[in-house]
Amino acid sequence: MEGKITFTIVKPSALSMNYLGPILTKITDSGFRVIAIKMLHLSKEQATAFYAVHQGQPFFEGLISFMTSGPVVVATLMKDNAVADFRKIIGATNPEKAEEGTIRKLFGIDMQRNAVHGSDSDENALIESRFFFAENEIFQY
Ligand code: RTP
Ligand code: MG
Repeated sequence: MEGKITFTIVKPSALSMNYLGPILTKITDSGFRVIAIKMLHLSKEQATAFYAVHQGQPFFEGLISFMTSGPVVVATLMKDNAVADFRKIIGATNPEKAEEGTIRKLFGIDMQRNAVHGSDSDENALIESRFFFAENEIFQY
């Protein structure tokens, strides 16, 4: 799977605005296959562990409180060149700077409420996918 998967979180703001369907459509229309998916409400412990690399950043507390403010949908996606191609379709971290037609441009509100997460490397894609999914919850079909 290495090199062929990425991991995403549809963030609480996008779910509350009922954008789950359009976001998933954009993902599958872009050639990604959803090989694992679930909805859950992140605990503070889960969010803190998931975003551990950002601990100490000025935006960290806000990020944790936002990510635990409502349910999220987590998913593992499969495609050749998955990590880079997914970051291309989500666009820049700041929705205002994201390219036209990208998920963050279409469905993001601001830097924090930017609709989705996307893994930044093959290594992190695997780590993040394993953080949420057991082996028998991932399907190659
Ligand atoms: P992500 O991890 O969610 O895919 O986003 P990213 O790689 O584009 O951005 P990253 O630097 O990893 O930041 C993770 C998330 O933290 C929030 N953030 N807020 N207010 C700020 O300056 C700031 N910087 C980052 C965003 O929600 C970002 O997605
Ligand atoms: Mg990141």
